[in-house]
This record gives sequence, structure tokens and C-alpha cells, in this order.
Amino acid sequence: MTTEGDKLVRPGYMSGMLLISLLLVLWLTGCSRNTRHELLTFFFDGVPPLDAGKNSSVTVDSSAGMVSLAADTASQAVPVWFFHPSKKEGQKECATCHDQRQSFRLFSDNESLCISCHEQGQQSDGAHSPAEDGDCTACHDPHGTRNRYLLDATGLELCGQCHDAEDIRPPEAKSVHQPLADGTCQSCHDPHDSANENLLLATPEELCSQCHKAGEFYPEQAVSVHSPVEDGECMECHSAHTAANEKLLVAMPGALCFQCHDEEEFEPEEAEAIHSPVEDGECLECHGAHAGRQESLIKGPPAQTCFSCHDQEEIQPADETVTLHSPVEDDDCVACHDPHNSQHEYLLTEKQPALCFTCHDEDLLEDDTHADQAQETCSSCHNPHFSAQEYLMRQ
Ligand code: HEC
Ligand code: HEC
Ligand code: HEC
Ligand code: HEC
Ligand code: HEC
Ligand code: HEC
Ligand code: HEC
Ligand code: HEC
Ligand code: HEC
Ligand code: HEC
Ligand code: HEC
Ligand code: HEC
Ligand code: HEC
Repeated sequence: MTTEGDKLVRPGYMSGMLLISLLLVLWLTGCSRNTRHELLTFFFDGVPPLDAGKNSSVTVDSSAGMVSLAADTASQAVPVWFFHPSKKEGQKECATCHDQRQSFRLFSDNESLCISCHEQGQQSDGAHSPAEDGDCTACHDPHGTRNRYLLDATGLELCGQCHDAEDIRPPEAKSVHQPLADGTCQSCHDPHDSANENLLLATPEELCSQCHKAGEFYPEQAVSVHSPVEDGECMECHSAHTAANEKLLVAMPGALCFQCHDEEEFEPEEAEAIHSPVEDGECLECHGAHAGRQESLIKGPPAQTCFSCHDQEEIQPADETVTLHSPVEDDDCVACHDPHNSQHEYLLTEKQPALCFTCHDEDLLEDDTHADQAQETCSSCHNPHFSAQEYLMRQ
């Protein structure tokens, strides 16, 4: 484009001048609409088709550097045309870049023309390659376009001229980030240059929180916050563009969780029992991914978390004729059960009677009732959760 630009302008200065003068004369004298359109399209890419402006009138607001096709009927859409603003007030727009006394040539070659006034792409090591090369017209049309900032196109259409659009937004993606779908690439990337990697407007740790506020992705009452969330490592779990999983997740829980947590710790091969939701990767049935209302990222009150699947009436009945075992009353299920897996039946943290002796005195075994029971399962006589009898007796 750049070398071509030089060629285009230099050899034919006289004929260029003639054409320009002709254009201006015709414009001023008000030649037929068709002729004017032909001339305009000769000089400029993207001149709106004639029928687009049917029943409309062209208004030029040179101070705003803008031409609009105002429709006569309010119901019609009004396409807006943007031109490069004048260098100085009152000066003809073309003279910003073309020397009107010198055969309409450009003031300088393409690579340095724009940056003689603009600074883009010249700052850091992180410059976007086309901007750094002064190839401004790869994205901007200096003669005006329908898009803001004189852009040739917007979103993926603009960037897709050089980047593989299917790489950035694979058609089969299950979730697409809203700003990507909207084509507002510049809400995350600086098209010219950036001190951050990948031309990002902020560091990866700060980028997401520009739009997502903490309260939006974890409860205000959070007691525990997941360490990677606290550190802004959102992209350990989410993709910024698209993902093959819902919610832009790079993997589904538990595979997602096992990227950082040791799978062997949760689903050990030698375990007697693995809690069914753990086996099914349903970590988020109990944990918040970002934060929890309880310690250990637990989503809800501890026992309630269990009762989303287990029948509360069978473990912690709200019946006044019944006595709850003290730790059950305290919702402390994990005093006896491991929520993930266990070497013992019923996901118990310890085998009985050792389990019971984490709280009760072993001297108990010396009393008359228990003397012969040492090797027995305590829960064969006592209900570990509740009972309508004294001493939590089963009957
Ligand atoms: C912001 C700078 C800028 C302004 C303002 C500008 N031009 Fe250009 N013009 C260029 C550049 C750069 C080229 C080289 C071709 C290219 O890269 O698009 C060019 C090329 C041209 C050409 C050669 C043919 C072509 O399309 O490549 C014509 C004719 C032309 N301009 C006419 C005009 C007219 C008429 C105006 C005023 C209405 C104008 N230009 C305003 C920058 C400008
Ligand atoms: C003689 C100085 C000068 C040159 C040369 C020049 N510009 Fe500009 N440009 C300006 C001024 C002044 C403005 C308006 C103030 C601003 O936004 O910085 C402007 C504004 C712009 C804008 C913003 C338009 C908008 O809608 O806000 C773009 C994009 C732009 N120029 C691109 C270019 C490109 C591309 C070139 C080279 C082909 C170029 N300019 C060459 C002075 C210049
Ligand atoms: C890869 C495409 C691309 C290239 C190359 C590019 N720009 Fe831009 N430019 C954009 C986009 C996209 C925007 C709109 C940014 C936004 O919406 O915030 C923009 C906005 C601008 C603006 C107006 C807003 C601002 O940041 O001041 C100016 C002026 C501008 N560009 C000048 C240039 C100049 C000069 C060059 C060459 C050194 C250049 N651009 C190269 C894509 C590009
Ligand atoms: C004129 C061609 C062109 C256009 C248009 C273009 N790019 Fe680029 N872009 C490049 C080149 C060349 C590279 C460097 C290639 C590389 O290192 O892999 C690059 C690299 C990048 C990078 C990676 C930078 C890095 O540090 O590795 C990002 C991000 C990027 N472009 C975003 C965009 C966005 C967003 C747009 C649209 C506003 C866009 N590009 C439009 C040519 C282009
Ligand atoms: C929500 C923020 C966000 C939006 C919106 C966004 N990007 Fe990105 N983009 C990123 C981040 C973050 C990276 C860093 C790569 C990574 O780790 O995923 C990146 C990387 C890139 C890269 C370089 C790496 C690669 O995948 O080739 C290109 C090119 C790119 N983006 C283009 C685009 C284009 C084009 C758009 C608009 C259609 C866009 N981006 C919209 C955040 C965003
Ligand atoms: C420019 C603003 C913006 C930035 C920056 C941004 N997002 Fe978003 N994000 C949105 C919008 C808008 C939505 C859709 C509305 C909503 O669901 O809240 C969204 C939705 C999401 C969703 C839900 C997707 C779904 O399918 O329901 C996730 C996850 C997400 N963003 C993660 C991120 C991450 C991670 C980052 C940083 C890489 C990030 N966002 C940066 C604007 C942004
Ligand atoms: C440890 C992995 C992980 C990290 C780190 C993480 N997220 Fe998430 N995020 C998830 C999971 C899993 C979901 C889906 C939650 C669900 O379905 O309950 C999600 C959902 C979301 C949603 C959609 C919420 C909704 O209700 O639709 C947004 C927005 C979001 N995350 C933003 C972020 C942001 C911003 C960060 C960084 C501050 C971040 N996430 C860090 C795993 C993570
Ligand atoms: C990017 C790495 C990473 C991923 C992915 C990840 N975690 Fe974590 N998680 C950590 C780190 C780091 C800690 C804190 C250090 C520790 O205690 O091991 C932590 C701690 C935890 C804790 C204990 C929190 C506390 O306050 O004690 C739970 C529960 C947890 N993660 C669950 C999950 C779940 C569920 C998933 C999948 C949705 C997941 N993690 C995915 C890195 C990760
Ligand atoms: C049935 C509910 C439940 C499920 C399902 C569950 N957890 Fe937990 N998790 C808990 C509870 C309760 C704690 C607190 C244990 C404690 O305080 O002793 C915990 C603690 C943790 C901890 C911190 C302490 C430790 O043991 O390292 C991590 C990390 C963790 N869980 C990860 C996961 C992962 C990963 C998954 C999915 C593979 C998962 N959890 C599934 C209930 C659950
Ligand atoms: C997402 C649903 C779900 C949640 C939440 C859940 N469980 Fe389970 N739990 C199951 C399923 C399914 C089974 C296996 C089917 C069965 O035997 O009833 C099971 C079995 C058990 C068993 C019996 C194991 C055996 O060997 O018979 C215990 C004990 C248990 N869960 C305790 C808990 C505790 C304590 C909590 C809260 C920390 C909890 N569960 C939360 C679904 C859940
Ligand atoms: C004092 C220790 C202890 C506490 C605290 C405890 N359990 Fe248990 N739980 C057991 C024992 C022992 C068994 C085996 C029952 C048997 O042998 O009949 C069991 C069995 C279970 C079972 C499977 C059999 C059944 O009865 O359905 C579930 C589910 C269960 N407990 C859930 C819970 C929940 C939920 C909590 C918290 C509200 C809890 N447990 C608190 C000791 C305890
Ligand atoms: C986390 C601690 C803890 C564990 C583990 C525990 N208990 Fe208890 N238990 C208590 C507390 C506290 C009380 C009420 C105070 C007391 O009377 O000692 C209690 C009360 C009892 C009572 C009724 C005493 C009375 O006077 O009514 C029996 C029976 C009992 N436990 C049996 C068991 C059995 C059997 C086990 C093992 C399956 C067990 N406990 C495990 C803490 C525990
Ligand atoms: C054969 C039935 C039976 C077995 C098995 C049994 N107990 Fe008991 N336990 C009783 C009876 C009956 C009482 C009523 C008080 C008494 O007679 O001493 C009792 C009372 C208790 C008390 C309350 C005693 C006090 O002094 O407050 C505790 C605590 C207790 N048992 C714990 C256990 C533990 C721990 C085990 C397992 C090692 C166990 N029991 C096994 C029948 C049993």
C-alpha cells in the first residue's frame, strides 16, 4: 500500500491536479447527481451508493470533519461519514496531507506522513507491527470512511485483514466473550502500541477488573477468596476470547481444578470410597470457584451444603422430641466425614471407635456398659446423628 501510494501520487501530478480541480468545480457548480457520484467513487473508496442516499441530502460539516447523509424521512437510518479533520481551522481538508501548491503531492512519504503529526506506534517495544512500520493506512483511510476514527472496518473485519479470524473466534466455540462478539477489540487491545504484552490496555492481572467488579463474581459476604482470583489470575481458568466450554472456561471442573490441585489427593486410587460428586467432578456443588461464604470456599452454610443432596430429616431432623448429637447440631459434618474421599466406610475421617475418641474419653471403655464393646462399632448402639432416646441410643 505504501509504495503504491507514492507511485500513485508522483507521476500524475498534473492530471491529478486537473481531476481535483474538475471535481471541485463540478461540486461547486452542482453537476448532475450521477456525475458527482462517479467522480467521488473514482477518488474515494467506500462512497455510499446512490440509492443509499435516496431521498436524502448531503450535508458537509467541515468543522467536525464529518459528512452526513441526512435522510428526509425520520424513519430512515442515517449513515454518518467521517473525514480527517482539518489541520487548521478554515484550511481546506486536503491540504492537511497534500501540498496544493506542489502538484497535490503528499507532504511526505507514506511512512512518515501521519506520524509527522501523530505519535501512534512509536513509543514502546510493544508496538503493533503495522503501526510501528507507519502503515497507518492498513487500518485508516485518510479520505474518510463510514466508521469512527476513519477506520476501514470495525472489529474482527478490521483485524481479520491480517489475523486469522477463525483463530480468534472459532465458529464452533461454545462461549464467546461479549466484547469480542460486539467486535470491540479495542476495549482490551490498543491497536497502536502498549507497554503490556499482547497490546493489552492493562496488565493481565488488571484487565478483567476493568469491567468485572468483585461483587459481580463473588458474594459480598465472602469469607474466603480463592487465591488465584485474589491474585487476578483470571486467565488461569477463563479464556479472554472464546472457549469450548460454557462461561469461557478453559476446562470444566474438576479437570479445571486439577490443573492446580493434585487429583490424587481427591480421588486416590487406594481410597475405600470417593464421594460421588467428587468422582463426577462436581466440585462446584460445594465450593464457589471464586469465593465462599464459609471457610474453604464453601458456598453456603456447612450442613446446608450437604443437605442440597442429602435428606436433612434423616440426619438433622427439626423435631423437638429428638436430641441432636452435639457436632451435628453445630453443622460440623466434617468432624466425622471427609467430604472428598475416605479409607473408611461412610466417608468417615477415622474408623470407629477411634473416630469417637477424637472427642470422647477413652476411659469410657472401662465402665460396665462398654467394657466388652471395645472392638464393636459404637454406632451399632448409638445413632451418630440424633436420637429420641437418652444417650443417643438407637432404641
Ligand atoms: C490525512 C491525510 C490525507 C488527507 C487529509 C487527504 N489525503 Fe489524499 N491521500 C493521502 C494518502 C496517504 C494517499 C496515498 C494513497 C493511500 O495510501 O491511500 C492519498 C492519495 C490521494 C489521491 C491519489 C489516489 C488514491 O486514492 O490513492 C488522491 C486523488 C487524493 N489523495 C485526493 C485527496 C483529496 C481530494 C483530498 C481532500 C478532499 C485528500 N486527498 C485528503 C492522504 C490524505
Ligand atoms: C498536518 C498534521 C496531520 C497529518 C499529516 C495527519 N493528521 Fe490525522 N489528525 C490531525 C489533527 C489535528 C487531528 C484532530 C485532532 C486529533 O484527534 O488528534 C487528526 C485526527 C486524526 C484521526 C482521528 C479522527 C477522529 O475521528 O477523531 C485519525 C484516525 C487520523 N487523524 C489519522 C491520520 C492518518 C492515518 C494520517 C496519515 C494518512 C494522518 N492522520 C495525518 C493532524 C494530522
Ligand atoms: C491495526 C490497525 C491500526 C493501525 C495500523 C493504526 N491504527 Fe490508528 N486506530 C485504530 C483503531 C482500531 C482505532 C480506534 C481506537 C479506539 O476506538 O479507541 C484507532 C484510532 C486512531 C486515532 C484516534 C484515537 C487516538 O488514539 O488518538 C488516531 C489519531 C490514529 N488511530 C492514528 C493512527 C496513526 C497515525 C497510525 C500509524 C502510525 C495508526 N493510527 C495506525 C487502528 C489502527
Ligand atoms: C495490517 C496487518 C494487521 C492488522 C490489520 C492488524 N494486525 Fe495485529 N499484528 C500484525 C502483525 C504483523 C503482528 C505481529 C505478528 C506476530 O508477532 O505474530 C500483529 C500482532 C498482534 C498482536 C500480538 C502482539 C504481541 O505482542 O505479540 C495482537 C494482540 C494484535 N496484533 C491485535 C490486533 C488487533 C486487535 C487488530 C485490530 C484492531 C489487529 N491486530 C490488526 C498485523 C496486523
Ligand atoms: C476481554 C478482553 C479482550 C477482547 C475484547 C479481545 N481480546 Fe484479544 N486478547 C486478549 C488477551 C488477554 C490476550 C492474551 C492472550 C491470551 O492469553 O489469551 C489476547 C490476545 C490476542 C491476540 C494475540 C494472541 C492470539 O490469540 O493470536 C490477538 C491477535 C488478539 N487478541 C486479537 C483480538 C481481536 C481481533 C479482538 C476483537 C475481535 C480481540 N482480540 C478482543 C483480550 C481480549
Ligand atoms: C471491556 C469490558 C470487559 C472486559 C475488559 C472483560 N469482560 Fe468479561 N464480560 C464483559 C461483558 C459485557 C460480559 C457479558 C455480560 C455479563 O455476563 O456480565 C462479560 C462476560 C464474562 C463472562 C461470562 C461469560 C458467559 O458465557 O456467561 C466471563 C467468564 C468473563 N466475562 C470473564 C472475563 C475475564 C476473565 C476477563 C479478563 C481477561 C474479562 N472478562 C474482561 C465485559 C468485559
Ligand atoms: C479457579 C478458576 C477460576 C478463576 C481463577 C476465575 N474464575 Fe471466573 N469462573 C470460574 C468458574 C468455574 C465459573 C462458572 C461458575 C459456575 O458455573 O458457578 C466462573 C464464572 C465466572 C463469571 C460468570 C459468572 C456468572 O454468574 O455467569 C465471570 C464474570 C467470571 N467468572 C469472572 C472472573 C474474573 C473476572 C476472574 C478473575 C478476577 C475469574 N473469573 C477467575 C472459575 C474461575
Ligand atoms: C490456577 C490454579 C488453581 C486452580 C485452577 C484452582 N485452584 Fe483452588 N487453590 C489454588 C491455590 C493457589 C490455593 C491456595 C493454596 C492452597 O491452599 O493450596 C487454592 C485453594 C483452594 C481451596 C481452599 C481455600 C481455602 O480458603 O482454604 C479450595 C476449596 C479450592 N482451591 C478449590 C478449587 C476448586 C473447586 C477448583 C476448580 C473449580 C480450583 N480450586 C481450581 C489454585 C487453584
Ligand atoms: C460434598 C461437598 C464437596 C465437594 C463435592 C468437594 N468439596 Fe472440597 N471441600 C469440602 C469441604 C466441606 C471442605 C472443608 C474441609 C474441612 O474443613 O476439613 C473442602 C475442602 C477443600 C479444599 C481445601 C482443603 C483440602 O482438603 O485440601 C480443597 C483444595 C478442595 N476442597 C477442593 C475440592 C475439589 C478440587 C473438588 C472437586 C474435585 C472438591 N473439593 C469437591 C466439600 C466439598
Ligand atoms: C451434589 C450432591 C451431594 C452433596 C452436596 C453431598 N453429597 Fe454426600 N453423597 C452424594 C451421593 C450421590 C452419594 C452416594 C449415594 C448414596 O449412597 O446415597 C453420597 C454419599 C454420602 C455418604 C455415604 C457414603 C457411603 O459410603 O454410603 C456420606 C457419609 C455423605 N455423602 C456425606 C456428605 C456430607 C457430609 C456432605 C456435605 C459436606 C455431602 N455428603 C454432600 C451426593 C452429595
Ligand atoms: C459424630 C460423627 C458424625 C457427625 C458429626 C456426622 N456424621 Fe454422618 N455418619 C456418621 C457415622 C458413624 C455414620 C455411619 C452410620 C452407621 O453406621 O449407621 C454416618 C453416616 C452418614 C450418612 C450415610 C448414612 C445415612 O445415615 O444416610 C450420611 C449421608 C451422613 N452421615 C451425613 C452427615 C451429615 C450431612 C452430617 C452433618 C449434618 C453428618 N453426617 C454428621 C458420623 C457422623
Ligand atoms: C467432634 C467431637 C465428637 C465426636 C467425633 C463424637 N462426639 Fe459424641 N458428643 C460430643 C459432644 C460435644 C457431646 C455432648 C457433650 C457430652 O455429653 O460429652 C457428645 C455426646 C455424645 C453422647 C451422648 C451423651 C449424653 O450424655 O447424652 C453419645 C452417646 C455420644 N456422644 C456418642 C458418640 C459416638 C458413638 C461417637 C462416634 C461415632 C461420637 N460420639 C463422636 C462430641 C463428639
Ligand atoms: C452395646 C451397646 C453399646 C455400644 C456398642 C456402645 N455403647 Fe455407649 N452407651 C451404651 C449405653 C446403654 C449407654 C448408657 C449409659 C450407660 O449405661 O453407661 C451408653 C453411653 C455412652 C456415652 C455416655 C456416657 C456418659 O457417661 O455420659 C458415651 C459418650 C458413649 N456411650 C460412647 C460410646 C462409644 C464411643 C462407643 C464405641 C466405643 C460406644 N458408646 C459403644 C451402649 C453402647
